[in-house]
Amino acid sequence: MKIVVTGGLGFIGSHTVVELQNQGFDVVAVDNLSNSSITVLDGIAKITGTKPLFENIDLRDKAVVHDFFKRHNDTVGVIHFAASKAVGESVENPLLYYENNINALVYVLQELTALPQANFIFSSSCTVYGQAETMPITEDASIQPAISPYGNTKQIGEEIITDTAKATHLNSILLRYFNPIGAHSSAIIGELPIGVPQNLVPFITQTAMGLREKLSVFGNDYPTPDGTCIRDYIHVVDLAKAHVVALQRLLTKQNAAKVETFNLGTGTGSSVLEVIQAFEKVSGQKLNYQIVARREGDITAAYANTDKANQVLGWKAETSLEEALASAWQWEQKIRS
Ligand code: UD1
Repeated sequence: MKIVVTGGLGFIGSHTVVELQNQGFDVVAVDNLSNSSITVLDGIAKITGTKPLFENIDLRDKAVVHDFFKRHNDTVGVIHFAASKAVGESVENPLLYYENNINALVYVLQELTALPQANFIFSSSCTVYGQAETMPITEDASIQPAISPYGNTKQIGEEIITDTAKATHLNSILLRYFNPIGAHSSAIIGELPIGVPQNLVPFITQTAMGLREKLSVFGNDYPTPDGTCIRDYIHVVDLAKAHVVALQRLLTKQNAAKVETFNLGTGTGSSVLEVIQAFEKVSGQKLNYQIVARREGDITAAYANTDKANQVLGWKAETSLEEALASAWQWEQKIRS
C-alpha cells in the first residue's frame, strides 16, 4: 500500500518512514530539503534495509503537486509533515509560514481528494490549546487564539481539513504533538537543527558538546514547583509509531468520525530544571546553564491527558524521559564525531 510522507526526511518524518517500512508499507518520501539532509535517505535505508522512493519537490507549487499525484495515483494515504515550525521566524515572516503550511496543505488535499482513497494524517500541535486552564490537557480543551503565525497555521490547518472532510470522502486524524525529542536508537537518524537551536533538548546536547557556551533557562519565576516551565517531552520513535497506528485506523475504516483528534504525549510533565537534571544523570556531563528572563510567548505548563490515544488508538508512549535524553545525547555525539 503506497503511503506518501511529506517532509519525509525531516525529524519526525524520517522516524515515521522507518516505522512505516518496518510495518511493510510502500513509502514515497517527499521533501524539499529546506530543513533536512539527503543523507537521511541512506540512514533510513541502513536501518530498515529499504530505501524509500524519494522525490525532491516543493509542495508550494500547485502544478508540481498535481504532477506528483498523477504519477502516484495509487496512493492510499498521506502523512503530512512538510511545514515550517520555528515560532520566532513565523512572527518575522508570516507569509512564508502561510505559504508553506497552508498553501501546500491545500494543494495536497486537492490532489488527495481526487483519488479513490483519501486518508490523511496531519501534524498538529499542543500549541492550539495555548495555556490550557486544566492539566493534563484533554482533546476537548478549548482552542485558544494563536499567539504566533506558526500556531495559527496549525489551527487553520485543522479547520481546512475538517471542512474538507465534511464536503468530500476525506478521512483524517489530527495528531497534536507535545514536545518531540530524542533520536533513533541506532543513532543513524535524529534531529538536525540548522543554526542555533530554538528548542530545549538540542540546545542542551549542543551545550554539553561544547558547541554552545551555556544554556539559558528562560525564567524561574513561573507558578510551578521549581519555577521553570513544564512540558511533556515525548520520544520521536513513540511519536512515529502513533502515526502508523493512526494510519492503520483510517485504512481499516476503524475511525469513529471523519476527523478525529488525538493528543500525543507521555502524560507526564517535566520542568526545564528536571530535564537538565535528567540529562546530567544519563550523560554524566555537568551542564553549564544560567537562569535568564522569560522568553516571550512561553506558557507555564502543558502536558497531555493521553487517555484517548491510549484507549482508542491502543497506543502508549513507552520511552522514559531519561531514555529519550540518552538517545538525543548519543545522536549529538555521533554527528559531531
Ligand atoms: C515550541 C513552540 C511550539 C512548537 C514547538 C516546535 C514556543 C512558545 N512554542 O514549543 O509551538 O510546536 O516548539 O518544536 O516557541 N527553554 C529554555 N531554554 C532554551 C530553550 C527552551 O529554557 O534555550 C525552555 C522553554 O522556555 C520551554 C521549554 O524549554 O519552557 C521547552 O521549549 P521548546 O523546546 O522551545 O519547546 P516549546 O516552547 O514548548
